[in-house]
Amino acid sequence: MYNDYLINTYNRMDFIAESGNGCWLTDVNGNTYLDLVAGVAVNSLGHSHPAVVKSIQAQAEKMIHVSNIFWTKEQGELAKKLVELSNHQGVFFCNSGSEAVEGAIKTAIKYGTSKKAEKEKIICFNNSFHGRTIGALSITAQEKYQQPFGSLLKKVKICHFNDLEDVKANMDEDVCAIIVEPVQGEGGIQVATTAFLEGLKMLCEENDSLLIFDEIQCGAGRLGTFFAYEKYGVEPDIICMAKGLGGGVPIGAFIVNEKANVLIKGDHGSTFGGNPFVCAVSKTVIDITGSPDFLETVNEKSAYLKEALFKIEKKYPQFITEVRGEGLMLGIEMKVPVKEVIQEAYKNKVLLISAGSNVIRIVPPLTIEYKEMDVFIDTFNQILETF
Ligand SMILES: Cc1ncc(COP(=O)(O)O)c(C=O)c1O
Repeated sequence: MYNDYLINTYNRMDFIAESGNGCWLTDVNGNTYLDLVAGVAVNSLGHSHPAVVKSIQAQAEKMIHVSNIFWTKEQGELAKKLVELSNHQGVFFCNSGSEAVEGAIKTAIKYGTSKKAEKEKIICFNNSFHGRTIGALSITAQEKYQQPFGSLLKKVKICHFNDLEDVKANMDEDVCAIIVEPVQGEGGIQVATTAFLEGLKMLCEENDSLLIFDEIQCGAGRLGTFFAYEKYGVEPDIICMAKGLGGGVPIGAFIVNEKANVLIKGDHGSTFGGNPFVCAVSKTVIDITGSPDFLETVNEKSAYLKEALFKIEKKYPQFITEVRGEGLMLGIEMKVPVKEVIQEAYKNKVLLISAGSNVIRIVPPLTIEYKEMDVFIDTFNQILETF
């Protein structure tokens, strides 16, 4: 296909996307599929949501980009909204999740080394995923992503997810930050316990370290609260966001509280980060996804989908190990190769994606309708019936 012209780093499906509408994607041959991938938890309002389209058109006509040497109303308004929603103090805008994590790492190292030269150790967790740039990759504790990219950042300690004792054993005053995904995405939809996150918060307070939540996949409404941390009632010092924040336009952000507000003029920057185009669209998206009524619908849909999946889990214990997750970020751990299940679903015009080695990841548009969830449930049931 286009292999001859690209650096082929992706394991792509044999699918050429042509257009999208809500929860549905149509390929170049005119076949329409139910899209439960949503650009990997990006298209929170589905494809071509009218409010998003309108916002894109209006902002494109007005102004797409100016340098960050100028102020724009669009960036300012989005920052204000995020600060108000999070109760934090300041936002830096970038273009992707990895960049949000890079910014958080720089903030943490500056915070730590301003106290003590050696205070630059970062604790992360097994099966984490924080991105592909060198800093973010260094704290992405999965060999398949780190190989063969050299020695990466040195002062990183990998602890076991949900194992507070392990973190305690590795925590000391040289730790500048702990970074954790409240729900691990790429690692296989692993949900942190509240006690674990509360424990991390306490350890950070005791050791004057920063607690960073990577909410890039699980934030922006996906768990049924706008910020993932709200689900747990544990406030991090830094929140990393991207994906659903823009509903499809490339935007990332890290949001700091007073303690972590240490970057000053000249410390960080981005040419495109937070340009008026992406900020106007993101504001439109989060005006919807951040509203309590909308979040309530996410919780209701989550309960509906979970109940249906638990029933399937009970019916097919020979195929399913566990159904887990929060909000509309669910995982089905399989005892059979997920690749084959995904392929079968594809034949039945349902698009799915895996997470980890044996988990089907369900991250649909948050606007998915009940009858669309039924299409998936029926298809999944049917696949397992004939497996
Ligand atoms: C939790 C998490 N952090 C960071 C990233 C990296 O984001 P990006 O691909 O936008 O750089 C991802 C991407 O999947 C992610 O899921």
